[in-house]
Amino acid sequence: MVDAQHASPITIVTGASRGIGRAIAEALAGAGHRLVLVARSEDALRRLADDLRSRGADTHTVTADLRDEDAPATIVRATEQRFGAPTNVVSNAGTAPADKVENTTPAILRETFDLHVAAPLGFARACAPAMKKAGAGCLLHLASTAGLRGYPFTSAYTAAKHGMVGLSRALHAELGPAGIRVYAVCPGFVDSDITRAAAAAVAAKGKTTADQAFARMASQNRIGRMHLPHEVAATVAMLLRERPTGCVYELDRADPAFLD
Ligand SMILES: NC(=O)c1ccc[n+]([C@@H]2O[C@H](COP(=O)([O-])OP(=O)(O)OC[C@H]3O[C@@H](n4cnc5c(N)ncnc54)[C@H](OP(=O)(O)O)[C@@H]3O)[C@@H](O)[C@H]2O)c1
Repeated sequence: MVDAQHASPITIVTGASRGIGRAIAEALAGAGHRLVLVARSEDALRRLADDLRSRGADTHTVTADLRDEDAPATIVRATEQRFGAPTNVVSNAGTAPADKVENTTPAILRETFDLHVAAPLGFARACAPAMKKAGAGCLLHLASTAGLRGYPFTSAYTAAKHGMVGLSRALHAELGPAGIRVYAVCPGFVDSDITRAAAAAVAAKGKTTADQAFARMASQNRIGRMHLPHEVAATVAMLLRERPTGCVYELDRADPAFLD
C-alpha cells in the first residue's frame, strides 16, 4: 500500500515546454516527482513528456493558455483526476514584453499581469483548501530581479514581477501558518528564448549585434554572467525538497539567499 505521506510529490510545472520550465521539469522528474506539464505548445509538451517517461518519470500534460482565468482551476482538476491533489505548483510560465513606455498599452500591461500575477493567484485559490487540510504544500513563483529592481524598457514586465513578488509575500503571510510554503525565486538574466529574443530585437534596431546585446544583458547580472536554466532548476528543486521557511529568494548574488 502506498503511504500518502511518503508517496512521490505531485507537482504542476507551468511553462514547461522550453527554457527554465523544461529544466525544472527535468530536475523534478529526476527527484521522483509525478509531473503535470503545462504550456500552450502541445507538441513540445508531448515531446518532453515522452522523453521524461523514457527515463522512468510519471507525467501528464495539459495544454492551456494561462491568461485564461479559468485555466488554473481546470489544471488543478486535471491533476486531481490523474494523480491526486497537487503537492506543489511551480508557476513559471511567462513572457517578457520589452518596449519603451510610449508603446506599452494598458492591454499589454493587463495581459502581463494575467500571466504573472492572476494565474499564480488562481492556482493558490484552487489549491488552498486541500493544502490547508493537508497542512502542507508549496506554491513557487518564478519571479525575477525585475520583481526587486527596475530595468528600462520593461515597464509592464517589471510591474508584473513586482506584483508576483508582492503576491508571494501576501500568500506566505496568509498560508504559512497553515503549513503551506510560498516562494518567489528571483534570478537575473537567464540564457533562454526570452533573452535571445530580446537581444535579437535590440540588434534589429541596428545599433549593435545580437551577441553584443546578449553580453550587455549578462553583464547587468551581479554574478557577471548569464544564469543557466539548470542552475535555476536546481534552486527550485532544493526549495521543494528542503522546504525552508523564507519567501523571497534572490539568485543573482555570489551567495544566493532569502531576502525575507
Ligand atoms: N530568461 C530570463 O532572463 C528570466 C529571468 C528571470 C525570470 N524569468 C522568468 O522565468 C520564467 C520562464 O522564462 P524562460 O526564460 O524560460 O522563458 P521561455 O524560454 O520563453 O519559456 C516561457 C514558457 O512559458 C510558456 N508560456 C508563455 N506564455 C504562456 C501562456 N500564455 N500560457 C501558458 N504558457 C505560457 C511558454 O510555453 P508556450 O509558448 O508553449 O505556451 C514557455 O514554456 C518566466 O516567468 C520569466 O519571466 C526569466
